[in-house]
Amino acid sequence: ATSIPADDLVPDMERRQLMNLLLLGAISLPTAGMLVPYASFFVPPGSGGAGGGQVAKDALGNDVIASVWLKNHGPGDRTLTQGLKGDPTYLVVENDRTLATYGINAVCTHLGCVVPWNKAENKFICPCHGSQYNNQGRVVRGPAPLSLALAHADVDDGKVVFVPWVETDFRTGDAPWWA
Ligand code: FES
Repeated sequence: ATSIPADDLVPDMERRQLMNLLLLGAISLPTAGMLVPYASFFVPPGSGGAGGGQVAKDALGNDVIASVWLKNHGPGDRTLTQGLKGDPTYLVVENDRTLATYGINAVCTHLGCVVPWNKAENKFICPCHGSQYNNQGRVVRGPAPLSLALAHADVDDGKVVFVPWVETDFRTGDAPWWA
């Protein structure tokens, strides 16, 4: 009869444990992978996650709460917030005291100055070279070649969320040059 030397048993045990580990790994890795969609489901929009949306920030860097904003900003108001990619973006209060569903990117399409709102003229007027945009940001005087970019301004869970505007520019009927 042949007897198995004790030395040979040990590697065998190790191999079995290794196999068990591999098996465990094969099961738990996909399991962990399946958790990812659930986890991202709970990440609120606007946190820089999936949808491309971003919560508007006020001058102090706080999230813009729509109801609070409307208490402090009257009809016709256009005030800068921090928008997509950190771009200065105007929130617009309509004459019926609701928030416009679009925000206006304040970066001049000429050479990139931030364009201030001129309430008296009812226009955005660029201090750098005099370009003018109407109260929706449509270019009405050069040298700026294009209208100011748009972003959707949605309200999600009470907060204003900017979402990239990829549809037709409603002011011109053209495809969005910025998308
Ligand atoms: Fe605005 Fe030149 S940068 S007009």
